Amino acid sequence: MLPPLPPAAGTTAAPSAAATLRSEIGEPAIPDLGHGPRAPFLLPPLPFALNALAPAISARTLEFHYHQHHTGYLAALNRLLSGHALAGEALIPIIRDSHGGALPGALFNNAAQVWNHSFYWRCLTPGGGQAPGGRLGAAIARDFGGLPALRDGLIANASGQFGSGWVWLCAESGRLTLRRTGNADTPVRHPGVTPLLTIDVWEHAYYLDYQNRRVEHVTVLIDTLLNWPFASAIYEAHLEQSGGAERRTALPIAPPLLGVPAANTRSAIFSRLARRH
Ligand SMILES: [Fe+2]
Repeated sequence: MLPPLPPAAGTTAAPSAAATLRSEIGEPAIPDLGHGPRAPFLLPPLPFALNALAPAISARTLEFHYHQHHTGYLAALNRLLSGHALAGEALIPIIRDSHGGALPGALFNNAAQVWNHSFYWRCLTPGGGQAPGGRLGAAIARDFGGLPALRDGLIANASGQFGSGWVWLCAESGRLTLRRTGNADTPVRHPGVTPLLTIDVWEHAYYLDYQNRRVEHVTVLIDTLLNWPFASAIYEAHLEQSGGAERRTALPIAPPLLGVPAANTRSAIFSRLARRH
């Protein structure tokens, strides 16, 4: 059995890879994020203090993002589930059962946004961004050619997502992939696709700090906040779930990378942040 959840809100310690996960819904690679077994679902605490991610993400942005947006999705979800046929299900089955095709409704949107945000907070940590080693580091080298190329891919997908959405690093069919999803959509609704990391590219994630400069926000987040130990723990569980061996297939990396931004150097971005704070 995997150990319990990482530290509660107000702490700044980065969770170790071994202390990050326990299983959810019988799929060991999907972390239990603390929503509880069924409705009314709970709001998992932030794994860091509101000011712990500054200057990359300000306390004001986190305050709005967590206490207004994430909390709002949770309240709407519990309201929608009152008396609903899916009310006895766990959160991920609700996400999978409520998608409904091309125009997902309010239940799917709020359920997915609750899970996406709870997962997103775990993907961030003060002092993050350190290159992962172990089997995840080896898989990144194998499937992307190294962390710099993966970084470019994350930035390109964040830039290429028109409107609101999410960018994901996933493990599926024996390899790592990049995905981007629109609005509330989430790869966790696809059995067999294991999200390892995500970046929220809704404007509410960065507008107070960066206005329209999404690429700048995403670049700083990747370089200083991404919680690679969390991703590594999920990847280890994914490998365990898939039989402990990686299986190579001809699955292409998707989607194609668009518009890799140039000249967003770390030093230039940090100079702007330093001037602002
Ligand atoms: Fe968000």
